[in-house]
Amino acid sequence: MKIGAPKETFQGENRVALTPDSAAQLQKLGYECVVQAGAGAAARISDADYEAAGVEVVKTAAALNKAADIIVRVRAPSHDEAKKIPKGKKLISFLNPGGDTELLEVLKDRQIDAIAMEMVPRISRAQKMDALSSMANIAGYRAVIEAGNQFGRFFTGQITAAGKVPPAKVLVIGAGVAGLAAIGTATSLGAVVRAFDVRPEVAEQIESMGAEFLFLDFEEDGSGSGGYAAVSSPEFREKQLELFRAQAPEVDIVITTALIPNREAPKLWLADMVDAMKPGSVVVDLAAEKGGNCDYTEADKIVETANGVRIVGYTDFPSRMATQASNLYATNIRHMMTDLTPEKNGEPNWNMEDDVIRHSTVTHNGEITFPPPPPKVAAQAKPQPKKVEPTEEEKKAAALEAERQAGRNQVKMLVIGGLFMGLIGLTAPAAFMSHFIVFALSCFVGYQVIWNVSHSLHTPLMAVTNAISGIIIIGALLQVGSDSAIVTFLAVISVLIASINIVGGFMVTRRMLAMFQRS
Ligand code: NAI
Repeated sequence: MKIGAPKETFQGENRVALTPDSAAQLQKLGYECVVQAGAGAAARISDADYEAAGVEVVKTAAALNKAADIIVRVRAPSHDEAKKIPKGKKLISFLNPGGDTELLEVLKDRQIDAIAMEMVPRISRAQKMDALSSMANIAGYRAVIEAGNQFGRFFTGQITAAGKVPPAKVLVIGAGVAGLAAIGTATSLGAVVRAFDVRPEVAEQIESMGAEFLFLDFEEDGSGSGGYAAVSSPEFREKQLELFRAQAPEVDIVITTALIPNREAPKLWLADMVDAMKPGSVVVDLAAEKGGNCDYTEADKIVETANGVRIVGYTDFPSRMATQASNLYATNIRHMMTDLTPEKNGEPNWNMEDDVIRHSTVTHNGEITFPPPPPKVAAQAKPQPKKVEPTEEEKKAAALEAERQAGRNQVKMLVIGGLFMGLIGLTAPAAFMSHFIVFALSCFVGYQVIWNVSHSLHTPLMAVTNAISGIIIIGALLQVGSDSAIVTFLAVISVLIASINIVGGFMVTRRMLAMFQRS
């Protein structure tokens, strides 16, 4: 069968659903590939690039519709375009099935089996096909770049001969895929980043990316199903707005990404908060397509308020990085085709028993199959209940008791050791006893030295034991020429084991250093 990508018709859409790289992978699955001339031009992929990858290039959308058995797109076709797709073909694209039921009717009437890429369930197995995430990741990154473009200062703090520059303060509202990408980009540029989300389980993710989680002292879990957020209660919302209001005069850049599936975006950065921001501040509203999180947002525009705050309401962030976005999106589609083609024979097997295929399919065999039943696998593991932290006093009491116990154990060991020595001393010769006492004391000192080192330092400690191994080798070399075969044998074994320890120590040290080196 042939897989084909038309030139996107949505105004300003620069992405393309098939790239030369993805075509090469699809060919391995047994498919032939075809594109409409100029399909990749806006993503800087020429027709010649496609041809070099063995992709057929046809002139018009009509020719593409005729040639391709499976049509792959980025944006949903308009109703007119959908009516022009020949009956019985297959379609893989973003389709907005929740918002455009009329399109589903058209596809059903035309017996088109269709997969909506936004319907890929959020389960681990489907991550490689998750175009929502791959596009959100780009949007989060680009939001920071656009903010930087509008912001008149550095992100990072600097001390220069010309004066001290404080770091920019960035607030990210909504720490889903886009929000986390924005946090990562802003922290790597040197900004001081704070973030808030209604789902408390993201606090750790936010902190692990170097940002501060703004904690709201309110008992409510904003997690909904499938890893998404649920609508907050009015009381929670009030508390949340209070928190934001306190942040407004301080922060320089606000990036809002808060969304709740199948709803208008919640209004979270209200007019009075924008009015309280410093002149030159920037708000980037990634929820602009769904009405925006900010009161001032206008879709696809940059609005400047009376107090000099710019509100960026672009809705095409991934398309602004069309080459990158096309590569990732085409890879998502290619993975979907891999799932659809288990036999690698160039024929899709629309297995509706497969959770991912079932969930993503919106029309099949002349039926509308949207909405799907809930996936059998949960999107995310339930967060573990938090352990109750002991109070400072409890901690101190526990530490004191542990110390006492350790002391008692030491005394016991000393008494047992002393008795043991006494017993041996009664029978063993004096020369043996002096060596044996040195040996026992070395074991004790060695044990104490190593056991009291914190676990995180055990690896560096291993490197340091090279010195001890060196001393062992010197001792063993002195004994190697002994008249006794047993002593010679033991000396050789000592040299061997100590050498292994030294070489191992160097290897561990090398690996540790490599962990801290930038490649
Ligand atoms: P999204 O785009 O629907 O929402 C963005 C963020 O806004 C979410 O983190 C949400 O909690 C937050 N939000 C909603 N209302 C808010 C409010 N009033 N105040 C503050 N924040 C608010 O979600 P996205 O980014 O598409 O994904 C959400 C989550 O789904 C991810 O963080 C992840 O945990 C999960 N996921 C799981 C995947 C998998 O297992 N395959 C793949 C991708 C995402």
